[in-house]
Amino acid sequence: MQQIDLLIHSAAQAATCAAPDGPKRGAALADAGLIHNAALAIHDGRIVEVGDSDALRARYTARQSIDAGGKALCPGLVDCHTHTVYGGDRVHEFELRIQGASYMEIMAAGGGIVSTMRHTRLASEEALVESATQRLDAMLALGSTTVEIKTGYGLDTAGELKMLRVIEQLARTHVCDIVPTFLGAHAVPPEYAGDAEGYCRLVIEEMLPAVAAWRQSSVFAETGAPCFIDVFCEDHAFDVAQSERILQAGLDAGLAAKIHVDQFHALGGLSMAARLGVTSADHLDVSRPDEIDALARTEAAGVPLPAATFNLGGHAYANARGLIERGVPLALATDLNPGSAPCPSLPLVMAIACRYQRLLPAEALNACTINAAHALALGDRIGSLEAGKQADVLILKEGDYRHLAYFFGGNPVETVIKRGSLVRVNG
Ligand code: NIG
Ligand code: FE
Repeated sequence: MQQIDLLIHSAAQAATCAAPDGPKRGAALADAGLIHNAALAIHDGRIVEVGDSDALRARYTARQSIDAGGKALCPGLVDCHTHTVYGGDRVHEFELRIQGASYMEIMAAGGGIVSTMRHTRLASEEALVESATQRLDAMLALGSTTVEIKTGYGLDTAGELKMLRVIEQLARTHVCDIVPTFLGAHAVPPEYAGDAEGYCRLVIEEMLPAVAAWRQSSVFAETGAPCFIDVFCEDHAFDVAQSERILQAGLDAGLAAKIHVDQFHALGGLSMAARLGVTSADHLDVSRPDEIDALARTEAAGVPLPAATFNLGGHAYANARGLIERGVPLALATDLNPGSAPCPSLPLVMAIACRYQRLLPAEALNACTINAAHALALGDRIGSLEAGKQADVLILKEGDYRHLAYFFGGNPVETVIKRGSLVRVNG
């Protein structure tokens, strides 16, 4: 008998999302990697074995056992695109949109991202840590065990560094794994109104060196965690040439790259991003088929953000089926932010994607686990129930993983296990 820390046994099924050879593409996305009558052996925070419950109970003696009681297991969810740190809210703009204003009109009139910038600049680091912690707690309760967080509401060097320090503090204190992304090029701040070029120079020449220096002495350098640069490639934000210069400068500084692209207008940024070698391209609501083909020829994940499309209304969802059929490793994320997606729930994102983007529950689950892990360059550490992976595990309230997407508006997650420790039990 092998001695281990934890055995989770008697699960009706484990949706392992196993993918030993890289992200799931095409038909592989419809395979949840099901094991029936399943158990999970965990030691030192890692998965030792996943398999038949009776076989594992005979093989291991565990210091602690959890009887999953006929419920389903799945990997901890990975939210690979969020703006969880911000000051204030945008509930006023929510009403304006109901009355007919568009997201782009509000942004062009000086609201939107720049309005959150004002609140975020004024907020103390302590206040930002506290409000973001509450959001992360909600995300954890809904099954997210790894969360990417972007800057982009400072929009000057001091403000962006303040956001990075807040993100670092969250990484030190919160049970979720946190992945930082520098999004200095999220919007042109009022000081540079009409001078996006000048602001791009500030991002490249002043902010990026400061970000690189911060990273060297941050907790993320200690853990070898990835760190990203991102840009909002869109009308009234940054054009393709500006986006390319910023992402290339970030790559040259040792960051990995992401892009907000094709949310409202297809400007050609997606093929540029594919050429540069981004780790993920996100939004993709209006992407052109030839540019999706260019993305499919790379290693990058394609990340629709259906909660943002749902929240803003008014236009079609990203063609997630087309992304799968053309061979892009599809991932999904909440995009949690105060403007386009005030939503902490990956189960709700899955619910929307199944109904409006015609994903099967297995495709939605793989998109929120193993493929989302690859969208953060963490596919070798998290995102599936496989031997050697970090033991981030959910016990669901039902015995069939499909309830994650079928049931909506509530919480289908019962228990959250992070690095082999029980961290959350929902009533
Ligand atoms: O991903 N589109 C750009 N950025 C965010 C929105 C941020 C905001 O509105 O504050 C997004 O949707
Ligand atoms: Fe975003």
